[in-house]
Amino acid sequence: MTDQVSAFYEMHPYPPAVDDLLAYRRFWDDARRRAESHLFWPNEAYRDNRSVLVAGCGTVQAAHYALRWPHANVVGIDVSANSVASTRDLKRVHGLENLEVYQLPIERAPELRQTFEHVVCTGVLHHLADPDAGLRALRDVLAPNGALHLMVYAPYGRAGVYILQDYCRRIGITASEADIRGLAASLKALPPDHAIVTLLRNSPDFADTAGMADALLHPRDRAYSVPQLFEFLDAADLSFGRWIRQAPYLPQCGALASTPHASRLAALSAREQYAAIELFRGTMVRHAVAAYPSDQGGNRRVGFDGDDCLDYVPIRLPETIAVRENLPAGASAVLINRNHTFTDLYLAIDAAQDRWLSAVDGERTIAQICGEQADAGPARTFFEQLWQWDQVVFDASGKPRP
Ligand SMILES: C[S@@+](CC[C@H](N)C(=O)[O-])C[C@H]1O[C@@H](n2cnc3c(N)ncnc32)[C@H](O)[C@@H]1O
Repeated sequence: MTDQVSAFYEMHPYPPAVDDLLAYRRFWDDARRRAESHLFWPNEAYRDNRSVLVAGCGTVQAAHYALRWPHANVVGIDVSANSVASTRDLKRVHGLENLEVYQLPIERAPELRQTFEHVVCTGVLHHLADPDAGLRALRDVLAPNGALHLMVYAPYGRAGVYILQDYCRRIGITASEADIRGLAASLKALPPDHAIVTLLRNSPDFADTAGMADALLHPRDRAYSVPQLFEFLDAADLSFGRWIRQAPYLPQCGALASTPHASRLAALSAREQYAAIELFRGTMVRHAVAAYPSDQGGNRRVGFDGDDCLDYVPIRLPETIAVRENLPAGASAVLINRNHTFTDLYLAIDAAQDRWLSAVDGERTIAQICGEQADAGPARTFFEQLWQWDQVVFDASGKPRP
């Protein structure tokens, strides 16, 4: 099966290879780097020189990391010779001295004889014959102060994908170019209310034939519900830190908060809340988390109970916007994170909150922004909400910016 999966990626490298990384240039700014650093390491002063492993890097991801983080040392590994070759081409085109690429399965990552402060593994482990062995191998190369960025498929939003995978298997559709063309043409005749139709329409994964093959003709893929994901992390001695985008999982955010179920949800543990909310939302297609060595997870959380939070420096996430038209009564703006796919995830703010928000500059602490009002409940609640709704991350290191 490993051979089948690597043979599949030799034929259908994913994402499709590119000649250069210029199409990604909107990601290359310092504000984005800083927000990303504090998302994974809220309690550490900003650093841009971490060691990074991009595991199952595909054609682009490792080169893109090396380009975005020129002071970091980046290693990319992948089983597919084609993906490794494409990454080496990008290394040459962009002169990426800080990038090494190896054809190596994740399961053998410890053979690199190196630990990494940031391990990135997105869209890969759900294709492995033994994902637990893959995750343990990544845990083994994660430095004690390290953070893992993990993305795996989620089951309920992919129900239509699994239906069509089964359909393709039954009628013998292969991953040949002719069969993929035939599949693309046949999908146009699907009933309009088929479970996959929304995904076909909205997901960039289906924008080209490579994406379609990756989704519908993959020789092996599995998905993790929230409870399965927590078991997966626990078994590898990793501790859940946060969701990369957390608002979709939180009972405080979105439509559920104003239903009769809000109080029942509030009484559950955080894990039970996430599991219930995944079922309520029903269409999540992936889960992306920050995880840490299990003895470190507790050090990576931000809290709002004591006074420490007043020293946090809020940093806006780059994909956030403030809408100022067609507002609900009493609102001065409505805050949105464009990476959210659920339309109920907006935060309406009043004029006083809007003034605090406009003072968020990535330099000032909450205490400095709110002045005398910082001690009162509303200021803390507001900044906690900004964090819950994926509007900000915090530099909670207490250290001045270098
Ligand atoms: C869907 S692509 C994702 C690529 C990249 N992580 C991204 O997000 O753009 C999956 C990649 O994982 C690689 N892969 C699959 N099994 C692997 C394994 N056991 N070890 C290393 N790479 C693997 C494939 O060759 C492919 O390049």
